[in-house]
Amino acid sequence: MKLAVIGTGYVGLVSGTCFADLGNEVICVDKLEDKVERLNRYDIPIYEPGLEELVRKNHQRDRLSFTTDIHSAVHHADIVLIAVGTPETESGAADMSFVYKVAEEIGESIEDDKYRVIVNKSTVPVGTAEKVEDLIKKQQPNANINVCSVPEFLREGSAVKDTFHPDRIIIGASDKRAESMLLELHSPLTDQIVVTDPRSSEMIKYASNAFLATKISFINEIANICDAYDADIKAVAEGMGLDNRIGPKFLNAGIGYGGSCFPKDVKALKHLAEERNYQPDILQAVMDVNEKQSHRMVEHLDRIFDGDIKGMTVAILGLAFKPNTDDMREAPSVKIIHELTEKGASVRAVDPIAANNARTLLPEDVHIVEDALEAIKDADAAFLVTEWDEFKKITADDFKRLLKQPVVIDGRNVFDRDLFKENGIIYHGIGRK
Ligand code: UDX
Repeated sequence: MKLAVIGTGYVGLVSGTCFADLGNEVICVDKLEDKVERLNRYDIPIYEPGLEELVRKNHQRDRLSFTTDIHSAVHHADIVLIAVGTPETESGAADMSFVYKVAEEIGESIEDDKYRVIVNKSTVPVGTAEKVEDLIKKQQPNANINVCSVPEFLREGSAVKDTFHPDRIIIGASDKRAESMLLELHSPLTDQIVVTDPRSSEMIKYASNAFLATKISFINEIANICDAYDADIKAVAEGMGLDNRIGPKFLNAGIGYGGSCFPKDVKALKHLAEERNYQPDILQAVMDVNEKQSHRMVEHLDRIFDGDIKGMTVAILGLAFKPNTDDMREAPSVKIIHELTEKGASVRAVDPIAANNARTLLPEDVHIVEDALEAIKDADAAFLVTEWDEFKKITADDFKRLLKQPVVIDGRNVFDRDLFKENGIIYHGIGRK
């Protein structure tokens, strides 16, 4: 099939590349000339395992190309995928200006009566497919199109794998011809395909992200109660997760969810509800717990030192919002570091790949080093903030040898608590008192 993918961010670049690898002819469009020029020489703007090889392979096979010319890409396509950003606005609503602009440009680009399916891959408010259809038809009243919703569920760091092996595909189509074209496009990926209307499909995306965020805030709340009662959240989560109705995933207590999706999407769903005068109490609670959770590490440190952490040096292990990405969007590390420096502590931070992206978000006097052991050396305490594999390898002995005082606050519950305690380390996890 011939595809045009508008927007070469995470979703557009990964989906476009994977569809090319499945044998489709894909043209990816971005308005940024510099980005397109970089992509054409396989300089991938995001860190995503496996993506560069796949871009190179399919570009060389002439199945994948990058351009700024939306007009010719739409002209070529049977299916046009919209994958531009829907960032958060001040009110919490999704900023739809990029999607709407692309819709107008698609309308301006359609000159023939060929049937085309326009697909929203971006996370968008319920009702967007209809609005996009209106905007296209305003530019080109005779456009022979149908606008559908096929939301993307990929995770950063495993985006290629998630695209090739999705748990499910949701196709929100209001037209049988569009439905069968989208089934043909997606059927090589999985048998688990739910076909529904565009509005329900748009809601499935928000509801899924909000539910996962709820799971995280819930387990974080239980962890905080565990802290108060000397119970161990790891055992509690394991015991809960064995119930098939609950499931073991997304029950890792920590310092709250971050990234480009959960914080923005929970807020956007809340905003959608409020626009129709429904007060979503659970979503509000999920956000409140998440906001508080990033303070847990400094609270533990304060408790150990009776609130007197001025002048201390704290080693921060990890800056990215999660491992295997250089993405700093809504990373809890930023709040934690600001809180520490506001209380007069010095910070020495390390991250395998997010350090460059982090620099402008952190106070100027934060010292960023290249090596974890260098960060720990002579610090008064170490905070494990992002659970990169290389940090998990740091031993109790390393901490004891290098730290000025053997205080380890584990924001992701990855270290062996009992072993660390046996080795004389003052260890605090989240909900593992
Ligand atoms: C998420 C969704 O998983 C994906 O389906 C959607 O398309 C985009 O948003 P992503 O943001 O890449 O993907 O990361 P994910 O791995 O889901 O983690 C999100 C956040 O939750 C991270 O900050 C992570 O540290 C946190 N998290 C996750 C927990 O704190 N505990 C958990 O058990 C799981």
